[in-house]
Amino acid sequence: MVSEKFRTMNLHMSEAEQQINPPRHIAMIMDGNGRWAEKHGQLRVKGHEAGAETVDRMVSLCAEIGVEVLTLYAFSSENWERPALEVAALMRLLQHYLRRETGRLRERNIRLRAIGRLQRLDLPVRRELEKACAETAAGSGMTLNLAISYGGRDELCDAARAVCREVQAGQYACEAIDHQHLAAHLGTAGLPDPDIMIRTGGEFRISNFLLWQLAYAELYFSDTLWPDFSREELLRIIRDFHQRERRFGRVPGR
Ligand code: FPP
Repeated sequence: MVSEKFRTMNLHMSEAEQQINPPRHIAMIMDGNGRWAEKHGQLRVKGHEAGAETVDRMVSLCAEIGVEVLTLYAFSSENWERPALEVAALMRLLQHYLRRETGRLRERNIRLRAIGRLQRLDLPVRRELEKACAETAAGSGMTLNLAISYGGRDELCDAARAVCREVQAGQYACEAIDHQHLAAHLGTAGLPDPDIMIRTGGEFRISNFLLWQLAYAELYFSDTLWPDFSREELLRIIRDFHQRERRFGRVPGR
């Protein structure tokens, strides 16, 4: 069991939730909002709004059971190519979420962090994000890491550029660059790699998400559309995760 430091006290937790052994880092691709909206005869944006409620549920559960880091793929570098109206709606939703939730995150000792090319965000959204990160920076419980305007290949290119600059400045020899060094230049620097990556919505791909960090993650693909993803399903996945043998390329039992 993880230390009490990471648990957010919640008297409404079920016995199953209280007894679960939390993974350190869970990453999620929140897919299926559009199809959920279509299924309910609604506009796509309604699916994203319903998806934001699932975000609340997952953040609460993960903090309550003692997960250290929850990374959510909120907006990919490729999502900029969606119709302008949908992009605008997603940005509004994000801004609204940050405004509404920053206080609650702080109360629950949750630190907000963001990865991605945040410089592409409109200034009001970026300001709201920076404010939320600053106001929750002292949170020593769970880290909620939002991937926004994020692409794994962009992140690796940015890290490679930063390392090149250090080499050019004579601070490092090329031969001295190792895994730790490169990882220290990623948006996720300082965070443990994900133990579990869950994708909802029935597709079997990782779509440019955490390409470096998922090297040894256990992958779960669920048919559930993101707005329907429940606390119970996450608990089932975590229980299954504990049944898997993680060998990290080694021989079993050694
Ligand atoms: C993918 O579903 C989902 C997204 C591109 C956006 C995810 C955003 C949210 C869950 C809500 C806002 C987030 C926060 C953190 C408040 P899709 O639109 O590709 O669904 P489809 O495959 O069914 O079309």
